[in-house]
Amino acid sequence: MLNKKVEDICNRQVEREGYSSNLYIAMASWAEVNGYSGVAAWLYSQADEEKIHMLKFIKYINERGGKALMPALKKPPSEFKNVEEVFKEVLKHEEFVTASINEIVALTLEEKDFNTHNFLQWFVMEQVEEEASARAIIDKMRLVGKNNMYEFDRDILSLRRPATNAPAVP
Ligand SMILES: [Fe+2]
Ligand SMILES: [Fe+2]
Repeated sequence: MLNKKVEDICNRQVEREGYSSNLYIAMASWAEVNGYSGVAAWLYSQADEEKIHMLKFIKYINERGGKALMPALKKPPSEFKNVEEVFKEVLKHEEFVTASINEIVALTLEEKDFNTHNFLQWFVMEQVEEEASARAIIDKMRLVGKNNMYEFDRDILSLRRPATNAPAVP
């Protein structure tokens, strides 16, 4: 059985993964209407992964005798200066999510909840990948040069790592 503190912080993560998904859809939509179809496709796929992360938390909370709550999600921004700004925001957001996962890990140690601690290990590794992939894209953009966004947009999907071998959502 999940203790209340762990249940609450896992529910906070449901909200954060759900917001991540919506944020990336908002960015994808911006990219799509601005002609960056590759960037949009990358972001839509990323949004799908975030939804899976949210579902993992929901299923885990319920499986352990808690009650997952679907929260209202705040409205993500809808305007961005340019593609570079979008990916800087992606990186910043992923760093925030990493810190958030680490807080949950710390709480599970405090509360001696080793089951949840174990459940979180996949997310710890996933965040390493998430940050690395955002950094790789920002580096690539620097290499290609801001004046060659056509090539960048055409090639961005080849930078997409295959979805991590996620434990199936039960
Ligand atoms: Fe996530
Ligand atoms: Fe993420």
